[in-house]
Formats: sequence, C-alpha cells, structure tokens
Amino acid sequence: MSELRFSWFRVVWVMSLLLVVADSQSTHPTEVTALQVIRQSFEDPDNSLRNWNRGDPCVSNWTGVLCFNTTLDDNYLHVRELQLLNLNLSGTLSPDLARLSYMEILDVMWNKIGGSIPKEISELANLRLLLLNGNQLTGSLPEELGHLPNLDRIQIDQNFISGPIPLSFANLNKTKHFHMNNNSLSGQIPPELSRLPELVHLLLDNNNLSGYLPPELSELPELLILQLDNNHFDGGIPPSYGNMVRLLKLSLRNCTLQGPIPNLSRIPKLAYIDLSNNNLNGSIPAMNLSNNITTIDLSRNRLTGTIPPSFSGLPNLQRLSLFNNSLSGTVSSNIWENRTFNSTEELTLDMKNNRLSGISGTINVPPNVTLSLQGNPACSNGSMADFCGSPSALVSHLQSTPSNSTDDCKPQSCPPPFEYAPGSPVPCFCAAPLLIGYRLKSPGFSDFPAYFYPFEVYLTSGLKIRHFQLDLTYEWEKGPRLRMYLKIFPVFAGNGTNIFNDSEVFRIRSLFTQWEIPDNENFGPYELIDFTLLGPYEDLIPTTTSSSGISKGAVAGIVVGAIVGAVLLSAFVSLYILRLNRNKYHAVSRKRHVSRASLKIEGVKSFTYEEMKHATNNFDAASEVGQGGYGKVYKGVFADGTIVAIKRAQEGSLQGEKEFLTEIELLSRLHHRNLVSLLGFCDEEGEQMLVYEFMSNGTLRDHLSVTEKYKESFSFATRLRIALASAKGILYLHTEANPPIFHRDIKATNILLDSRLIAKVADFGLSRLAPVADLEGIVPGHVSTVVKGTPGYLDPEYFLTHKLTDKSDVYSLGVVFLELLTGMHPITHGKNIVREVNIAYRSGMIFSVIDAKMGSYPSECVEKFVTLALKCCKEDTDERPSMVEVVRELENIWHMMPESDSRTNDSIDIEHGKNVSSQSSSSTTKNPYVSSDISGSDLVSGVVPTIAPR
Ligand SMILES: *[C@@H]1O[C@H](CO)[C@@H](O)[C@H](O)[C@H]1NC(C)=O
Ligand SMILES: *[C@@H]1O[C@H](CO)[C@@H](O)[C@H](O)[C@H]1NC(C)=O
Ligand SMILES: *[C@@H]1O[C@H](CO)[C@@H](O)[C@H](O)[C@H]1NC(C)=O
Ligand SMILES: *[C@@H]1O[C@H](CO)[C@@H](O)[C@H](O)[C@H]1NC(C)=O
Ligand SMILES: *[C@@H]1O[C@H](CO)[C@@H](O)[C@H](O)[C@H]1NC(C)=O
Repeated sequence: MSELRFSWFRVVWVMSLLLVVADSQSTHPTEVTALQVIRQSFEDPDNSLRNWNRGDPCVSNWTGVLCFNTTLDDNYLHVRELQLLNLNLSGTLSPDLARLSYMEILDVMWNKIGGSIPKEISELANLRLLLLNGNQLTGSLPEELGHLPNLDRIQIDQNFISGPIPLSFANLNKTKHFHMNNNSLSGQIPPELSRLPELVHLLLDNNNLSGYLPPELSELPELLILQLDNNHFDGGIPPSYGNMVRLLKLSLRNCTLQGPIPNLSRIPKLAYIDLSNNNLNGSIPAMNLSNNITTIDLSRNRLTGTIPPSFSGLPNLQRLSLFNNSLSGTVSSNIWENRTFNSTEELTLDMKNNRLSGISGTINVPPNVTLSLQGNPACSNGSMADFCGSPSALVSHLQSTPSNSTDDCKPQSCPPPFEYAPGSPVPCFCAAPLLIGYRLKSPGFSDFPAYFYPFEVYLTSGLKIRHFQLDLTYEWEKGPRLRMYLKIFPVFAGNGTNIFNDSEVFRIRSLFTQWEIPDNENFGPYELIDFTLLGPYEDLIPTTTSSSGISKGAVAGIVVGAIVGAVLLSAFVSLYILRLNRNKYHAVSRKRHVSRASLKIEGVKSFTYEEMKHATNNFDAASEVGQGGYGKVYKGVFADGTIVAIKRAQEGSLQGEKEFLTEIELLSRLHHRNLVSLLGFCDEEGEQMLVYEFMSNGTLRDHLSVTEKYKESFSFATRLRIALASAKGILYLHTEANPPIFHRDIKATNILLDSRLIAKVADFGLSRLAPVADLEGIVPGHVSTVVKGTPGYLDPEYFLTHKLTDKSDVYSLGVVFLELLTGMHPITHGKNIVREVNIAYRSGMIFSVIDAKMGSYPSECVEKFVTLALKCCKEDTDERPSMVEVVRELENIWHMMPESDSRTNDSIDIEHGKNVSSQSSSSTTKNPYVSSDISGSDLVSGVVPTIAPR
C-alpha cells in the first residue's frame, strides 16, 4: 500500500527532475567543492547526507542545502542556508564552511559535532543565524566571530566551549540574541558588551564565568532577558540593574552573589526575578514591583527582616519563594486577599525555614493558593497545621491539552502516521500532523496553565494557522525551561486531502528554522529541537528558501501526486473497513451437535460437559473472569479443589470437531513456563471448551491500571521481568512449536500473572481455532480473511498487507513493553502509544512518559528498554528485531540492573538476571524458574500438571 504511494511520488519526482534539468542552472563550483569537503569532515552514521554526491547541490536538492531561488549576478546558484538540524552527525565543522560565501543561516543544531568552531566562519559576511547549539563543540570562541557584520543570532549553547567571551563580541552591532548557556565559558563578562545596541537576550547561565557583574550591562538599551544562573561571581548585584528599563527577566540564581538586593521598582515590565541560592543579605527592599511580575524567587539566601507589604496584591503573581532565609514577622493575608483568581491561576507561596511567626489577617487561604510554612516558629501553633504538613511530592508529568474530542473515533480506521486531529471542527478528521520538538528557553512565568491559551494564540498566529490546528504536550525541564511537543494538523479541505501540501510544510518549517515567529514577552526565546519530516512528508525536501524557482508544473505535479496518493490511501482504507465489516456477517455459525468425547490426546484430559457445568456452577455469571473474542472465560473449581480457567467457545467460534481436536493436539504439545498451560478440553453437547491453568493474579493490564483490586504498582524490575517472561513465551511459540505459531493477538490482557507474578502468555493458538484464514499459507475453506488482532496492538504492515510474520508479534509485544514502561493504554483519546512515546523519545523527553507509579528506576536500563520497545514497533518490518534478539536484549538490560533494584525492590525473589542465561541450553540450576527458554528444553521437562476432575 505505502509502496504504491511512494512509487507515485517517484513518478512525479522523476517528471519534475526532467523539468528542472531542462533549466541549465547550477551551483557555483566553489560551493560544490566546499560542500563535499564539509561532508567529509562530518561522520554521518545514518547516512543522512547520502544524496550529497548526486547531481548539483541546489538543483538536485541535497539534504539540508537551501539555495537562492535564482542565479545571482555571476549566473550561478548559491547556497543560502545549511539546515542540518538533528541528523545525528558527528565529526567536525570544516573551515570550508567559509566558502559558502552567500550563506545566511548555518544550522547544525542537536547533532554530536565535536572539535572547535572554525574561525573561518567569520568570513561569512551575510551570516545572520549561527546555530551550533546542542553539539559537543570544544575549544574557545574564535575572536574573529566578533566581526560578523550581519549576525542576528548566535546560539552556541549546550556545548563544551571553554575560554573567555571575546572582547570582539562587543562589535556585533546587529546581534539580538546571545545564547551561550551551558558551556564552560570562563573569565569576566566583558563590560564592553554593554555597547551592543540591539541585544535583547543575554543567556550565559551554566558556565564558569567569574569576576564582578559589570554594572555597565544596565546600559544595554534593548535588553529583555539577563540570565546568568550557575556561575561564580564575586561581589554583589550592581544597583544599576534597577535601571534596566526594558528588562523582563533577571535570573541570577546560584551565582555566589553577596550583599543586598537592589531596588527593582523602576523596571516597568519586570515579570520574573530569580536571585535564589546566593549569599544575599540584608532585608528585602520595599519595592513596588511591576504588575507583570509572575515569579519572585529569593530563596536560599541570608535575607532578614520582614516580607515587604509591596508583595501583596500582585495580580499576576504565580510563585513567591522565600524559603531558607531568616525572615521574621508574619505572612500577610493581603498577598492572596487582594487579588482574584480564575480557574487556571495558581499561587505558590513557599516560606519554609524562616523565622515567621504566623499569618496576619485571615487564615482562610483559597484553594488556588499553596502556602508552605514548615520550619517556621509559626508551626508551633496548631491552627497553622494546614501549612505545616509534609510537602506533597511534586511529580513532574507530561501534560497535554484536554482534548477528548476524538474518543469516539475508531482507532483502527486511522493508523499511524495518520491520527485524528483533536481540535478539528470536522469530527474524526484523520490527518498526518507535522511533529515539532520545541522548547521555551527562558519563559517569563512559573506555571503554564494560565498561559496555555495565550501561548496557543501566540504560536498559531505567528505561524498563520488556525488555532485548532495545534495540539501540544509540555513538560518543565531544568533551567527552568518548558519543553513542548507540537503537532500541527492540516485543515479539513473537503477534497479528501489529509496532509499538508509541500509549500505549506516548507512555509511552516521555515518560520521555525528562520526564527521568524516573533518573540513574545511572556514566552521568551524558543528553541527548535526537532522538525523531522516523517510519514507522508518524509520525501519532501525543502529546496529554495523562498517560493521556489522551480516550475509551477512540477510543484503541481507533486501536489497532485500527494493528493492521488492520499485518495488512494483513504480509498484503500475504506475498502478495507468495508471488508472487515462484511466479514462480520460471514462468521461461521455451526449447528450444535452432540459428540462423544473421543480421541485420547496425550497430556490433556478430556472433560465431560457435566464436569464443566459443575465446576462453573452451571456457567454462573459469578464465575466469569473474562471475555475474549473466542468466548467467555470462567473460573472453574473441581470437586478436589483444583482451580482452572475454562474458555467456552461462543456461537461463531465453534469449528469442526476434527479441526478442534487437531488444534488441541497441537496445543497439548506446547509447554513452557511462560505460556499458560492447557490442561484439558471438553467437546460435548455442541460445546467446545478449553481448560487452562488458573492465573490468580489476573492480567497484566489490570496491574498497570492500578485499580481497586491492585493498588500496588510494579517496580521497574518486576516490569522488566514480566517483559522478559512474555518474550520468552512468544519466542517458544515462534521457534519451538511445530508448526510455528504466530500469536497474532498479543496484548496486555493476554499476559497473565500467576500467584508468584510470573508472566504467562495466554490465548495462543486460538488464531487457529477461530474461523480465520491461516495467513501463513493454508487457508481453510470455510473462513474468509479477517485481520485478527486488537486495535493499538496491530502491526501496521499486517494491517495493510495482510501478510502475517513473526514480526507482527514483535510489534504487538513492543506495544505491551510500552505499556509496561508508561502505564498508558495503547490508545487513549485517539492517541497511539507508539506515536506518543516515539515523539517523547525523539525529543529527548522519554522520562516524561515513564510511569511515575513505578517509583525510582535505573535510568540507563529504562532508556535501553524504551529503545528496544520502539524498535519492536518500527513501521518497517525489517527494522524490527526478531524475537530472539528481543529476549537477548532484555536479558542484557536485566544484567545491567543494579543488584539492589533487581533483588530487594522486588518482593518476589526469582529469576535473577544473573541466572538467566541467554544461550546455554543446559541450565540445570535448582531454581525452578530459571532455565534457558530458547533451548526448548521445556518441551522435555514440561510437566503436565495433574488434576483430578471427577
Ligand atoms: C528538488 O525539489 C524540487 C521541489 O521539491 C523538485 O521539484 C525537484 O524535482 C527536486 N529535484 C530532484 C533532483 O529531486
Ligand atoms: C558598531 O557601531 C559603532 C558605533 O555606531 C561603530 O563605531 C562600529 O564600527 C560598529 N561596528 C561594526 C562591527 O559595525
Ligand atoms: C551552583 O553552581 C555550581 C557551579 O557554579 C554548580 O556546580 C552547582 O551544582 C550549582 N548548584 C545548584 C543547586 O544548582
Ligand atoms: C504588563 O502589564 C501591563 C499593564 O499592567 C499590561 O498592559 C501588559 O499587557 C502586561 N504585559 C505582559 C507581558 O503581561
Ligand atoms: C525569489 O526569492 C525572493 C526573495 O528572496 C522573492 O522575492 C522572489 O519572488 C522569488 N522568486 C521566485 C521566482 O520565486
């Protein structure tokens, strides 16, 4: 299916290629050579630059090379932008970059590039954006960079750059943004920087800067953000900083600063002050702070005196942190009484560990306000108990837009990479969003909900899209920075198109990559972390930086191709759904007949209908423990007390007696500790029942959801153990069963847990019992083809091609792994777990989706487990690991577990990683739960449990 679409693309591609070649433009030879040299100095493990040897850079669309749309005076095309964001490149930056002499944007953000910044870059007279952040660059900043006459933005943050800030940077007359945080820059901040006429953001936090804070910085006429946290300065905060008329944010946390807090009353729009974790002393001046203030953090200093009355009634205040000081007096209730709160507004007042004696005014604190007074004399007063309790642990978790509008949409009709657009005015509009990793580097607030809507308005208006097209997820990160994951959906156009057209993709992308979305006072500067074109956008290559010079016909061709593709896709999907529905009515309904319980099958017992009836109290509803596609499942108790699970086929799942018995014979030969054992069957009175061992701890899903029944959540070690056990059970089905069995319906409700929490896979083999085609080749005459499986677990490849392979089980198991890791359901609110975790993974946010209920965990192991799970869920079957590889990797992860985690945190001390051998087939350890399950030794050792039914 997808191949069909891509070949369409290809046809169109080739057509347009011909059109372009007819145009005889080409890139300047110096730049062609330079690009080749630049490529050689990179290491490119993903081969992202594989087309950098084919044809002409500008004409043949080399990845990340964006050119001017027409030839310049010299009749050549020239490179205008190098956009190599997030391509996993390492190696170094070649000095030959300087030979792309018309270049305006150099973007290599979020790679692993090492070495130092070549001083030759300073020859790029047109360079506006120098974006090197998020690499492993070392060395010092070349003094020459200060001579870039047109530089608007220098982002070198999150590297290992050392040495001083060159004095020459004071010449960067046009530079607005200095983002140099998170490096190892040292020395004094040059007072000369105060000459920079355009500077708006000075971010130098997390370096080794020292010396005095230059008082001259107050002369920067445009400065909005001064962020210098986590450096080592001498002396205090220059009083002149109170004169920075445009300042919005002053952040000097943990800078070893001494002396008093300057009066900041004269800064009209100040929104955010963080002076915490210094050695500031004296009392807090009685400043009249701006009404725009959201955050005042003066905690962890040596402040004395009282809380100034001017901190009261600030209409936008979200956080006032004064903890760990020596403040005395009382907390005035005016702080919260003099303002009104709407439902999204919260105010946190953290006054812990001071010398405060109580609250003056009413003690009636509204629910939007959190006041903490622990560690103050006030707490000796019983009436303060509400504010003196142990602080509830703040758990950072992934937040997202409350958008349940897609709940009622059928997940299976919108498989990834498509998904339902949550805000779309057209219900269940299934479309392919653009996925963007984004971060606010220095927001002017502490609590996002109150700014959520304004942010959406800001971003959608900046992008010139409709408000409902945006869906976002966010999380606070160290800094504090606000990490987001944006999804931008196309608008329903009524013509079957559910993807963006190319020009729209490029338009949106370049607004982000060229920083054309205007800065906003509340939100501050943003970082672009990822904008990988995926799914239907994967083959699009941005070429020229403005509306391109290529023939309109070619563009139209591509758009037509895309539309045709999308129409074909949706036609295919709808046809497919039609077929699914039709098949429902083709289910085999067989006449019931009474048969003799015949045929002895070794190892399993043939039960009479009477026995079944007895054990289940005449199939009483109270004995029901589950319901599957095959029929109901009952808990059965035999007269001798043996407890079993009885699966009773429902009308429609019944099959010919011969097939039934053949199946049982097959199942009876399967024995593995991680498969639920078949104990017997009943084939009488037109009934078909299977008798299994009873799993007293229910399904894995029940435990992950933390219900009334299972309040205790599993530790990571337990989860890993369950994953390993499940994988082993399935591996056995794939490799030891003869013929091999593909489970086809692996899901968290088919993984059962016994009394010792050992995981066993259930419901295998039923694929053969159910009236479905055997997709391995043998198609039973009386059944039609049905894709069996459960939405959310279904291998997309199988869904599209009907070709079932062992990798389809790998996919479904991958989804179970993701559930183990995140606690999420495979599909919630129309969101697919695979997609959500992938997104988090790609934007480096995996820990935000990890199930907080599992408590602490070894992050390295969790990371590896997530990586494995996502690999299992790759769309391309060939990219998924085999089940053997899955088992092996899980065992590796188990071996990496710290002893304490794998032993003590786990209430049941079994199956230690150290004992689970990955290959040896002759494991003879005494622990009955340990052996190599790859070996198939279980076939021999598998014991058929004895039960004595009557
Ligand atoms: C380059 O991209 C343009 C626009 O996307 C397209 O029309 C053209 O065919 C591409 N050229 C090649 C050689 O792929
Ligand atoms: C910056 O501006 C100053 C004064 O306007 C000027 O003397 C200096 O040459 C300029 N520097 C650069 C690099 O353009
Ligand atoms: C304070 O800054 C120093 C470096 O200047 C750093 O090592 C330390 O971890 C920081 N402390 C906190 C609490 O961030
Ligand atoms: C700051 O406050 C003024 C008036 O108090 C208001 O008009 C303005 O919108 C506020 N700015 C921000 C960024 O909140
Ligand atoms: C080329 O780009 C410029 C802006 O750089 C734009 O004004 C012009 O319209 C574009 N030309 C074509 C043919 O697209």
